[in-house]
Amino acid sequence: MKIQAAVLEEFGKPLVVQEVELAEPRAGEVLVRLVACGVCHTDMYTASGVDPSGYAPTVLGHEGAGVVERCGEGVSLLAVGDHVVTLFSPQCGECVHCLSPLTNLCMSIREQQNLGYLPDGTTRLARDGHPLRHFMGTSTFAQYTVMPEIALARIDPEAPLDRACLFACGLATGLGAALKTASVRAGSTCVVFGAGMVGLGAVAGARLRGAERIVCVDLATERLELARGQGATDVMHGGEDAVERILEMTGGFGADYTFEATGNVAVMRQAVEAARMGWGLCTVCGVAGRGETLDVVPRLLITGRRICGSSFGGLKGREDVPVLVRRYLDGEIDVDPFISHRIALEDVNRGFELMHAQDGIRSVIEF
Ligand code: CU
Ligand code: ZN
Repeated sequence: MKIQAAVLEEFGKPLVVQEVELAEPRAGEVLVRLVACGVCHTDMYTASGVDPSGYAPTVLGHEGAGVVERCGEGVSLLAVGDHVVTLFSPQCGECVHCLSPLTNLCMSIREQQNLGYLPDGTTRLARDGHPLRHFMGTSTFAQYTVMPEIALARIDPEAPLDRACLFACGLATGLGAALKTASVRAGSTCVVFGAGMVGLGAVAGARLRGAERIVCVDLATERLELARGQGATDVMHGGEDAVERILEMTGGFGADYTFEATGNVAVMRQAVEAARMGWGLCTVCGVAGRGETLDVVPRLLITGRRICGSSFGGLKGREDVPVLVRRYLDGEIDVDPFISHRIALEDVNRGFELMHAQDGIRSVIEF
């Protein structure tokens, strides 16, 4: 079928919205009609050409939500009409990592996905007879996409898809970091560095776990206001003395849990230093630039601080994302304030511009 899609033709250039060819789903694959898709930092990062593993041409987008239109041979997890959230982090349910409760890093289709192919090593996207690669296994800047069934989370059809799409990446990543990776204890003190989509999700997750004090650190007053709306009890502007100020606020000890959601390694260091002696846990969610390293004084670790990383919030997508969407429907998670702009696919480059200007949290493309 012919579909409209936003193609990254060349790194550092605007995406080109155009007609491309999408083939039918093969065995284990599903055709999804996209209803909404968030514009995320990772899309812009890849488009810029800074990502060393990036490739072009490809159809970008990975924060999608839509409806199953057709199922390929042998598909058993989904049926036509199901409402789904796309998962760049799949859950096959069978690999050694899926069988372990300790990680969400499914191994089954990783290799091909990283190269821009579906699990069988081919693509369903083409233009003028030449294959186009899939981005993050999702390629959701398009009216339709074909994806493996293991990379789609079936959600309650009552959930509006323009909100549900945020659970495909940033929001779920932040929520999961607090709910799952750190598993924040009730009554604890948390500090979240960065009030973008991931940081705000972590604030909300800490609140859901019953944290008593949630401090959010960011440079923008406007974002800090959003953090308050998500449950931050204290907010502060970041800076060189952020750790000092946090120690002051916490009787000289630091926080039980800290979260880093900026990708800046200097901030990561602050997040480690702001964690409490004895048991403070620093969860790193931000993605640092290539070659950058985290500088930590080992004594901080000997004296009981711990550091861990979190990819997609440690969530096993097919299992955990529907639960988060349910909690949203139950009124536990306030999604609306994150959606700052609604745009058409044709305006996808404007979505990048808004993000670059740090105007609002999320632009959502509506199809
Ligand atoms: Cu993303
Ligand atoms: Zn797996």
